[in-house]
Amino acid sequence: MKDFLTLAAQRYSVRKFTGEPVSDEHLSLILKAGHLAPTACNNQPQKLLVIRSREALDKLYLCTRCHFNCPTAIIICNDSTRSWTRKTDGKSSGDVDTSIVTTHMMMEAADLGVGTCWLMLFKPDVVRAEFNLPDHLEPVSILVMGYPAEDAEVNPLHNQFRPEEDIVTYL
Ligand SMILES: Cc1cc2nc3c(=O)[nH]c(=O)nc-3n(C[C@H](O)[C@H](O)[C@H](O)COP(=O)(O)O)c2cc1C
Repeated sequence: MKDFLTLAAQRYSVRKFTGEPVSDEHLSLILKAGHLAPTACNNQPQKLLVIRSREALDKLYLCTRCHFNCPTAIIICNDSTRSWTRKTDGKSSGDVDTSIVTTHMMMEAADLGVGTCWLMLFKPDVVRAEFNLPDHLEPVSILVMGYPAEDAEVNPLHNQFRPEEDIVTYL
């Protein structure tokens, strides 16, 4: 296990995979990491669809051009019947909760040597139709994953950081 900042610095979005599916052992650890994520009021509104059969992968590829021929993926949905809502303004915790779950899984995957790319560029209506999602499940993010191809490249965006002093304000 790497220390967290080393892991965070080394992780990058992998967009080229070997064809090998993520092993059951690795998948189970990745899902475990998602399971441990904190959520508002501990409501755990996430619903995870693990995509690994040929049939499911073919459906996924219809949902996004950013599938990168991944051999495995997880669609992270928010269950609106479970997510917490702030009464004063009606804001739901669903996007935040599911993003923490997704981040936990992405970082655990990185620690295991499993490459991931977080997707928001997908067609929610196609996801809904292909995977028969009921109205209360909203697909928020997709984590495509697999073992990085030997010639997988780090995108230059990976190393572009706004100056910390532009981002952080000490009061
Ligand atoms: C919320 C979110 C949505 C993203 N959506 C996409 C996407 O649809 N397609 C894609 O190729 N990368 C996507 N990315 C990856 C980002 O482009 C990438 O994380 C960013 O450029 C930094 O690069 P790095 O992950 O290699 O450090 C997304 C990342 C995040 C956090």
